Amino acid sequence: MYAKWISEELLCTAVPYEELKEVKISEYDLIIFGSRIHAGKVDGFRKFKRQLEGNTTKLIVFATGATPAKAKDVIDKIWKSSFSKEELSEIPHFYMQTGLNYERMRAGDRLIMKALAKVLRNKKEKDSEEKGCEQAIKNSYDISSREFITPLIDYIGNNKVCQ
Ligand SMILES: Cc1cc2nc3c(=O)[nH]c(=O)nc-3n(C[C@H](O)[C@H](O)[C@H](O)COP(=O)(O)O)c2cc1C
Repeated sequence: MYAKWISEELLCTAVPYEELKEVKISEYDLIIFGSRIHAGKVDGFRKFKRQLEGNTTKLIVFATGATPAKAKDVIDKIWKSSFSKEELSEIPHFYMQTGLNYERMRAGDRLIMKALAKVLRNKKEKDSEEKGCEQAIKNSYDISSREFITPLIDYIGNNKVCQ
């Protein structure tokens, strides 16, 4: 959803990751890579970086996840686990909250979530983070909102990245 909103706002092409091979990256001034967060990391980012090798095209990253946007410490940890120190300072990166969708989830992921729910349910003494997590993963929900793309759009506007 966020990729669609960003491409509408910037009037740029949105390409699904599977079709990246058909794109000549060097022809673009800027690439915005967007992915979900999976087990504390930006899913597919390392693989994507390997495909970028040798290119000097400017890169921006956005990641979607179930973590509340106000949980800055958790989100910082995610960026630190996904990026090298150099990437952390060089690549502009943005977090956009989404949610969880059990209906669209791959079978393997659904099993992971079930296992996590069971661990949390059976744990006797839960801290507030664990209690929050237990509630948050009970049902599907989606709080994606177009306004969450604003920091990324503003960054591009203010830094004239595409000139
Ligand atoms: C197995 C699994 C692990 C996940 N791990 C995280 C996580 O560590 N942090 C987080 O914020 N969201 C996590 N999520 C939530 C996904 O990032 C979220 O559902 C996704 O961004 C939704 O995007 P989509 O609608 O494009 O699938 C996880 C989801 C699944 C299914």
